[in-house]
Amino acid sequence: MRITPEMLARQARYAGRSARRIAGEPALARDLPRLLATRGRGTMALRLPWLPFRLIDELGTVVGPGTRVFEYGGGGSTLWFLDRGATVVTCEHHPGWADELARVVGGSWAADRWTLLRRSDADAYAAYVAAIDAYPDLHFDVVVVDGRERARCATAALPKVAPDGLLLVDDVDRERYRAALDATGWTRRDIVGFAPAKPTLAYTAVLTRPA
Ligand SMILES: C[S@@+](CC[C@H](N)C(=O)[O-])C[C@H]1O[C@@H](n2cnc3c(N)ncnc32)[C@H](O)[C@@H]1O
Repeated sequence: MRITPEMLARQARYAGRSARRIAGEPALARDLPRLLATRGRGTMALRLPWLPFRLIDELGTVVGPGTRVFEYGGGGSTLWFLDRGATVVTCEHHPGWADELARVVGGSWAADRWTLLRRSDADAYAAYVAAIDAYPDLHFDVVVVDGRERARCATAALPKVAPDGLLLVDDVDRERYRAALDATGWTRRDIVGFAPAKPTLAYTAVLTRPA
C-alpha cells in the first residue's frame, strides 16, 4: 500500500485527537502497555481482533465452542474466533487478503468451522452487504462489522443477530456511521481504548437488542 500525504495527515489528526481524549480521561490509556508489548506486529501475526483490548477481554468471556460468528472483514479476528472454537463466516472483498486468510486458516484444525465468502466490490458492494441474508434470522451470536460499507452492513445484520447476541461496529468515531446506528433503535455501548496494531484510540460500538 502506498502511503499518501492525505493518509499521513489523517493519522496525525487521529493521534492528536487521541492525545486530547487521554489528557481528559487518563484511564483510557490503561491498555497502552499491551499495545507496546505487541512490538509492531500485525493482528494476523498476533491472532487478535483489531478491536480495543478491553472489548477483546469481554468477548473472551462469551465466545467459545459453538459460538456462531459472522464478520464483515477478516484478519486477526478470524483466527481469534476460530482459536476459541467458534464457527465463523467471514465476508471479504479483497481477493489478495482473502487468499492470505485462506492460506493461514486452510488446512488447520479450524478449517472445517470456517466459511469464507468472497464478495467483489464491482457491484457497489451489493453482494457483499447481502452476504448475511443467506443465513436464518437470529442465527449469529456475534456479528462484527469491520470491513466495507459499515452502515449498510450493520443494517443488513440486524435480523440475523441472536436474541442475546452482540453486533459490533468498529471505528464508530467516523461520523458517517451515526445515522444508521441511531436508526437501529438498539442499545448502544461504546468501548474506547487501545487496540492491537493501532497507535491511536479505537472506538467500537456494541449494539444489543432492546429488552
Ligand atoms: C479493519 S480490517 C478487518 C480486520 C479484521 N476484522 C480483524 O479484526 O483483524 C478491514 C479490511 O482491511 C483489510 N485488511 C485487514 N487486515 C489487513 C492487513 N494487515 N493488511 C492489509 N489489509 C488488511 C481486509 O480487506 C479487511 O477486510
